[in-house]
Amino acid sequence: MTLIDPVLLKSRLGAMAGRFDVDVLAECDSSNSELLRRAEQGAPAGSVIVAEQQTAGRGRRGRQWLSAPATSLTFSLLWRFDGSAAKLSGLSLAIGAGLARALEQLGAQGICLKWPNDVLLRNGDDYAKLAGILIELASDRRGTQVVIGIGLNLHPPAGDLPQPTAGLSQAMGTLPERHTLLAAILIALAEILEIVTVNGFFAVKNEWQARHAWQGQAVQLLADAETPLIGRCLGVDADGALLLDTGTSIERIFSGDVSLRRHG
Ligand code: BTN
Repeated sequence: MTLIDPVLLKSRLGAMAGRFDVDVLAECDSSNSELLRRAEQGAPAGSVIVAEQQTAGRGRRGRQWLSAPATSLTFSLLWRFDGSAAKLSGLSLAIGAGLARALEQLGAQGICLKWPNDVLLRNGDDYAKLAGILIELASDRRGTQVVIGIGLNLHPPAGDLPQPTAGLSQAMGTLPERHTLLAAILIALAEILEIVTVNGFFAVKNEWQARHAWQGQAVQLLADAETPLIGRCLGVDADGALLLDTGTSIERIFSGDVSLRRHG
């Protein structure tokens, strides 16, 4: 398979090309780890690493992230926020909304979001994971930097995986050309990051909630070594916290370090 060509990608990025500095690696441990290392050495905001193959891809909650080169798109983007990290609440949800927006603009259907930042594909009453997002902070004296890592399945992954998975090919008739796809995602992410920087997650909340897979449904929330919390999912608030109606109270869940499942 041919690698992403940064020159061709620039032409697809059009007027936004100057905002990104793209490096394409045939192989690395993890595009997030590599970009965190480069951020420490002063890499500019807008740096992007596309990895055709990751030998130690990382997922949320310390999990591994496995992806095969020809069947997925894996990359990380470095973004810089001035000022406090408080502005970052809801950032991971906003990134999910930006990714969903880009895929829909390219013609994908059935894209849904699961708190905090899974991108799912709906198939009837069932949902399968289409993309994962891993956001890591790298603050320094210049402000707060975030590394936003995205793993998008282009085709359904093979093998025995712990949860149902889907590929973008199942959401649209013909897959977009890879440079067109990556450019559309980067542009949508830049747009949504700018909105969040200026107005906070509040400005993206309705867009996120319109795609929320389990709005109004019974869910079960599991944090390590705690009894599960069961309730009806009311969506998210202006800070991106999940609202769970347990019958006796409305719980606000801030930590994405939990596992959320449909209940019943
Ligand atoms: C999840 O657990 O759902 C998040 C998965 C995030 C995977 C992407 S692939 C590109 C980037 N590099 C990594 O090591 N992880 C993220």
